[in-house]
Amino acid sequence: MATRIGFLACADTLPGAGERRGDAFEHDLVTAALRPAFEEAGLELVEIDWRAPLEDFANIPLVLLGTAWDYQDHPDEFLAKLEQLDAGGIAVHNPPAIVRWNADKRYLKHLAAMGAATVPTRWLEGIDAAGVSDAMDHFAVDRVVVKRQVGAGGLGQFSFSRSNPPDPDWTMGRPCMVQPFLPSVVEEGEYTFFFIDGDFSHGVLKRAAEGEYRIQSLYGGYECDYTPSPADLATASDVVEALPFARPLYCRIDMARLPDGHLAVMEAEMIEPYYYPEQGPELGPRMAAAIRVRLA
Ligand SMILES: Nc1ncnc2c1ncn2[C@@H]1O[C@H](COP(=O)(O)OP(=O)(O)O)[C@@H](O)[C@H]1O
Ligand SMILES: [Mg+2]
Repeated sequence: MATRIGFLACADTLPGAGERRGDAFEHDLVTAALRPAFEEAGLELVEIDWRAPLEDFANIPLVLLGTAWDYQDHPDEFLAKLEQLDAGGIAVHNPPAIVRWNADKRYLKHLAAMGAATVPTRWLEGIDAAGVSDAMDHFAVDRVVVKRQVGAGGLGQFSFSRSNPPDPDWTMGRPCMVQPFLPSVVEEGEYTFFFIDGDFSHGVLKRAAEGEYRIQSLYGGYECDYTPSPADLATASDVVEALPFARPLYCRIDMARLPDGHLAVMEAEMIEPYYYPEQGPELGPRMAAAIRVRLA
C-alpha cells in the first residue's frame, strides 16, 4: 500500500470547498505536479485541511505545509496544530521550529549577520508619516516600501514616495520594516530560487502586472522561466548556507536586484511557499525522493 503524505490546505484552497481564494489554482497546479511523481515513488498525496481533527491524520507519517495560506491570520492556532501533529509522531515539513523562526521577518537580521546579501531594512515598532519621510532621508531614496514584520502575500503593505506620501495622520501601529523601493522589481522582476533538501531545483522570474510592483498572482503577477547565472545562483546558495537549519525539505529564496547589480534576499520562505511547478518539471520526482529519504 502507498504511504500517505499529507498536503495541508485551508478551507479556501482545498478543492471542492465552495468559494476558493483567487490563487487557489496554484494549489491545483502543485498537487497535479506532485501526485503522479509521488505515486511512482509509492506515495499517495492526501490533500487535507490543516484544521481537520487529529484522527483524520491517522496513517499519515509525514505532512507538507502545502497551501495553509490562511495561517498568518491564525499563527498560534496553526503552530499549536503543527506541534500536536509533531507530538503525535508525524514528521512535519518544514518542522514547527522552522515555522516559528520563519514567521517573523526579523530572521532577515540573522541572515545578514551570517553574511547573506539582504535588502537594506529599517526595523521599527511602528511608523507614522514623519517616520516614512525619515526613512526616505535615511536611505537617500524617494520611494520606500513599508511591510509588516509578520505578514505574507503583500497584505498590509504600503508603498510611499515623496510625491505620494501617507496622509499626515497615517500610522502603522504594529512592528514593521521599511525598505528602499527597488526599481528592479518592476523593471526586471523578482527572482525565486527553489531548493529541495538543500539542493537548487529550479528558478523563476516573477513579473508584476503593468502599473503594479507586487509580483503575486493575486495582483496580476505572472511567472517566466529563469535559468540563473552562476553568480546569481551562488548568491542564493549563500542564503541557504546562512540558514540556522541544515537541508530543510524545501525552501524558497526570493531575491531582488539592488542598484549595485547584486541580488539580495527579500524573503526566505520556509513555511508554505508556492512551489512554482510549471517552472520546475523535476519538482515532483525531487520532492518524492527527498520525502522517501526522510521516511527511511
Ligand atoms: N523593497 C522592495 N522594493 C520593491 N518591491 C518590493 C520591495 N519589497 C517588497 N516588494 C514587492 O512586494 C511583494 C511582497 O513583499 P514581500 O517582502 O515578498 O512580502 P510577502 O510576500 O511576505 O508579503 C514582493 O513580492 C515585491 O513584489
Ligand atoms: Mg514574498
